Amino acid sequence: MSEPVAAASSPQVPLIRVAGVTKRFGGVQALRGVNLEVLPGEVHALLGENGAGKSTLIKILSGVHAYDEGSIEIAGERVAFDSPAQSRAAGVAVVYQDLSLVESLSVGANLMLGREPRTRLGFVKKRQLTAMVNDFLRAHGIPLDARTPVGSLPFAYRQMTEICKALMGDVRILILDEPTSALTGGEEQILFDAIRTVTSRGVGVIYVTHRLNEVFRISQRVTVFRDGLNVGMFPTAQTDMKQLVAAIIGPGHAALHARERTAVGSASNVPAVGKENVAVAAQPILALSKVGNDRLRDVDLTVCKGEIHGLAGLIGSGRTEILETIFGLRVVDTGSIVIDDQALSRITPAQAIKLGVALVPEDRHVQGLVLDHSIERNLTLPRLPQFSRWGWLRSQAAVQQAQNSMKKLAVKAPGSSTYVKFLSGGNQQKVVFAKWDHPRPKLLLLDEPTVGVDVGAREEIYGVVQDAARAGTGVLVVSSDLDELLRLCDRISIVVDGRIVNTLDRAHLGNAEALHHLIQLSRSTTESPKGTSFGAHAT
Ligand SMILES: Nc1ncnc2c1ncn2[C@@H]1O[C@H](COP(=O)(O)OP(=O)(O)OP(=O)(O)O)[C@@H](O)[C@H]1O
Ligand SMILES: [Mg+2]
Repeated sequence: MSEPVAAASSPQVPLIRVAGVTKRFGGVQALRGVNLEVLPGEVHALLGENGAGKSTLIKILSGVHAYDEGSIEIAGERVAFDSPAQSRAAGVAVVYQDLSLVESLSVGANLMLGREPRTRLGFVKKRQLTAMVNDFLRAHGIPLDARTPVGSLPFAYRQMTEICKALMGDVRILILDEPTSALTGGEEQILFDAIRTVTSRGVGVIYVTHRLNEVFRISQRVTVFRDGLNVGMFPTAQTDMKQLVAAIIGPGHAALHARERTAVGSASNVPAVGKENVAVAAQPILALSKVGNDRLRDVDLTVCKGEIHGLAGLIGSGRTEILETIFGLRVVDTGSIVIDDQALSRITPAQAIKLGVALVPEDRHVQGLVLDHSIERNLTLPRLPQFSRWGWLRSQAAVQQAQNSMKKLAVKAPGSSTYVKFLSGGNQQKVVFAKWDHPRPKLLLLDEPTVGVDVGAREEIYGVVQDAARAGTGVLVVSSDLDELLRLCDRISIVVDGRIVNTLDRAHLGNAEALHHLIQLSRSTTESPKGTSFGAHAT
């Protein structure tokens, strides 16, 4: 089944060559003999379904896991890393799906952790550190400030900090595991520019992503894994979206054609799928009027029963904060919120849940999942009262529920008792997503619902959201993927600097490019005292 890596044989000595590598975790054969090669200056995209084995290979390359069989060469020399430090010393730098920054430290301190400039007595030379880091950031065109505490940055900027951390020092191979999952248009560009800067110096990049359109923008070659095996290696210029989707999902897949349409559509300018929506504009389930707090200003917003309403904007614009305010995680200083005809001046998460509001947060590790619990425990945790009445029936009902949800979203795991920490990133996201589905909420708040999810599962998640809306749930969704918003939403509101500056009906929305321009335009026409930088004040 694995394809020969013939196209890989080039005159240049590859920076990295992986041949026939296998890896087993207990009963799970994560890698069954994979090959991968990266040349100096090359961006090599690595694709595959959730659980295909991408992160496993990366963790082997970075010294986190040992491999069972096969060989790995770096610049022609055979290596087997026993620790991340050895991998790093060989010039391999990795940016993981889950970030590893120290939130209480500044951007600069994080970037220089362990190699701070020090006085002879061992004190950190803070000013020098700040200057060094800011020089580096400026040279790479990265709009961060060394002094900003990492904990105060929005997710994508923490991610960018992580990337900078990898770029500093002597790096030969840079590995990025889904780096853009939370980035929108312009921000993505900053990352791509940074990547081009390093590849022009001969650094080789392994780029893992589920956003297939990026493959065509940044990579020279593409390798696809499925179930721990190579299923294809293509020069990017000689492949297309259709071929990649077929390779990722596999030819035997029943839903291939439906899925293919979505995947291709999400990368081009296909208009949103028609969804008759009778309830829209009829009965509001949520109404915000002039809502303000430390992050929001005069937010007016209505979501109707059965409506899918999108929030578009850049990182730090206040999209997540709107969801958090509705859910009671942020105080309401001014204005009012009405949920299901109940006017509320103060709102707590407990109240919000009681009123039928569910929040699927962006940061799944912090807010969405207990990693040390099983899938079924995670799925039943938020609604324990439901299962607690009948002794043994309780656990049976919970297991049944968990298994149904797992099946519906195609969560790849040996069973519902598998610990969440052993799932691949995308499969963890599916578990987060399954959590809210029972009982069905009246108002569903989604923050980046498909981050890290493969093209097939993304379609399933869209189906679940659309089903909920059809059954009368009002949905408010934040996404950096503009194609996703256009595909799902009846209306889209544009958020700039904590305000909603425009709300548009689907009929008036063009393609992703048009929406991107609209966001940019809204930004430049809204006079912004905070400016565009996301330094110390950003949240
Ligand atoms: N530490 C572990 N213990 C047990 N199983 C593991 C462990 N790490 C990974 N696996 C399993 O190995 C398989 C490959 O997982 P991996 O994380 O490499 O997938 P992936 O391709 O990165 O997926 P995603 O796109 O969702 O991030 C999955 O079935 C996963 O559950
Ligand atoms: Mg992964």
